[in-house]
Amino acid sequence: MKRTALALTVLVAFFTMSFIITKQDDPIYKNLKVLPKNITAPQMDSVMKSYTAALGVKCTFCHVRNDSTKIWDYASDKKKHKLIARDMMKMTNQINDKYFDVTGKGSKNLGTALMVTCYTCHNGKPEPATKPELRENRNTQQGTPNGGGDANRPRLDSARKQ
Ligand code: HEC
Ligand code: HEC
Repeated sequence: MKRTALALTVLVAFFTMSFIITKQDDPIYKNLKVLPKNITAPQMDSVMKSYTAALGVKCTFCHVRNDSTKIWDYASDKKKHKLIARDMMKMTNQINDKYFDVTGKGSKNLGTALMVTCYTCHNGKPEPATKPELRENRNTQQGTPNGGGDANRPRLDSARKQ
């Protein structure tokens, strides 16, 4: 009886080890087309959090979660916003490489300080503004002597509805 228990423990240990080994060989992420395949988990976290902050959205804006099991499927490309985001990533990389490659490293290197980011255009909103706010809306708060300085003020809610 003892022998069987021991054999079983060894067997379980063996399976656990082989699981860990194959786990390490597998890339952590399954469906990366723009980000480097060897990206680490902390790097991925910070990239994704920069997107939620830049667009003022939550992860669900781009990723699907099963409502009943509460399990996320980050690799899935089912959400249209994720596909748009991928194009946006490529566009942002191209802008940085073509016009702002100050480091000479290229924007695909995650260590590069990017000049143009999602936030540059999105400013905390899913759809960037294409025109400035109406002057009446800007001037309802106390103005600066030259009437400018609007960029440093928070946007008014009334100005958001176009
Ligand atoms: C604006 C859209 C957007 C938002 C918001 C977003 N993601 Fe992503 N996410 C993407 C895109 C696009 C990819 C694929 C990148 C690629 O192809 O290189 C991705 C990939 C991932 C992956 C890798 C999946 C795999 O296995 O391939 C994980 C994990 C992930 N995101 C987690 C998150 C988390 C957690 C949040 C919230 C904090 C989040 N994402 C918010 C767009 C988004
Ligand atoms: C050069 C400006 C610019 C940059 C940089 C930029 N975007 Fe965008 N993005 C836009 C514009 C403009 C739209 C709106 C397009 C439209 O309304 O059809 C948009 C739309 C989107 C949408 C769709 C929003 C919706 O409501 O359907 C997503 C998602 C998105 N961008 C993600 C990103 C991410 C992620 C980044 C950074 C990797 C990024 N964008 C960088 C200009 C930009």
